[in-house]
Amino acid sequence: MKICHNKVPKTTVILAVALLLIWYIFIPDSTNREKHPGVYNNDITSNLGYPISPHVADIIAESERNHDIFVAKRDACLKDRSLTHANLWTGSPTFWDHFAPTTSCPFALRRLGKVGDGGKWICGLKEIAKKPECVAYSFGVAGETSFEQELLDTTNCTLYAFDPTVPRISLDVSKYPGRVHFYQVGLGTPPYFKPPRSSVSFPVKRLKQFMSELNHDWIDVFKVDVEHAEYEAMDDIIDDFPNGLPFPHVNIEVHLHLVSEISEEVKQFDDLLKWWLRLEKAGLRAYMNEMNYLGGIAKSKVTAVEYAFLNIKPFISGN
Ligand SMILES: *[C@@H]1O[C@H](CO)[C@@H](O)[C@H](O)[C@H]1NC(C)=O
Repeated sequence: MKICHNKVPKTTVILAVALLLIWYIFIPDSTNREKHPGVYNNDITSNLGYPISPHVADIIAESERNHDIFVAKRDACLKDRSLTHANLWTGSPTFWDHFAPTTSCPFALRRLGKVGDGGKWICGLKEIAKKPECVAYSFGVAGETSFEQELLDTTNCTLYAFDPTVPRISLDVSKYPGRVHFYQVGLGTPPYFKPPRSSVSFPVKRLKQFMSELNHDWIDVFKVDVEHAEYEAMDDIIDDFPNGLPFPHVNIEVHLHLVSEISEEVKQFDDLLKWWLRLEKAGLRAYMNEMNYLGGIAKSKVTAVEYAFLNIKPFISGN
């Protein structure tokens, strides 16, 4: 059994897997009820705006156990393998394998927008479409709005679109009276964000500021495509909402800096991992990823990946 590319103490791995198996086979259901009390409460409507059936609750609970199993394996890999700029991209697991999706969307998935760059996978579009009112925030709409358009066509959501790089959204707003609002400001740590290798800085605000200015306390559809500002933006969101993130899922395009020094690549991995672990701790679990090969430079060196994350907290605790 070879979990990582280089040597792993086999006995440790076998022991860990055996212990996990014993735990999951023999643990009585009642313990899970205590750990995740909300999971078995099908009266939950919470901020989601729709009830959670026992079937969906079961999928979430099982997905959480499956997530933990993957995380244990990933942690064992990271512990047993010293990463270098060489094995980071060519050894197994490669860079992005560490950031694999670990959970299921408990509803049908639907990809909104055009095939390829611009489209996004949405979890539970049908549930969102049943809401008489719903709020969508989309950060980064320059050039490509096929996702936003299909969202407007398939739901009753009001779209709040943000982009500091363009003066308006290229979308036939008259088709959706009162349902499209555009702001020439970005998401990030105020007051400005300067993308790497850009000479221009753009005005940005925190999500919490936008939400209080617009008088929202919940976002049903949340897209973040902000050219490297996603790191500070998500850090701020996690800091600003310590009692639970105000959205059921989020689509984020994660960008790597094109580091010029090969020795910086390991640091980049470590920084991404640290950020990723923060997202996981806040309740986010990736349920989908798509490599953006347009920006890839060689082999597995893909520098942008589209992720869709579920926020499991509202499904578990009703918060
Ligand atoms: C969406 O809006 C239309 C037009 O106002 C309305 O007829 C429809 O009932 C709404 N859908 C839901 C699920 O409320």
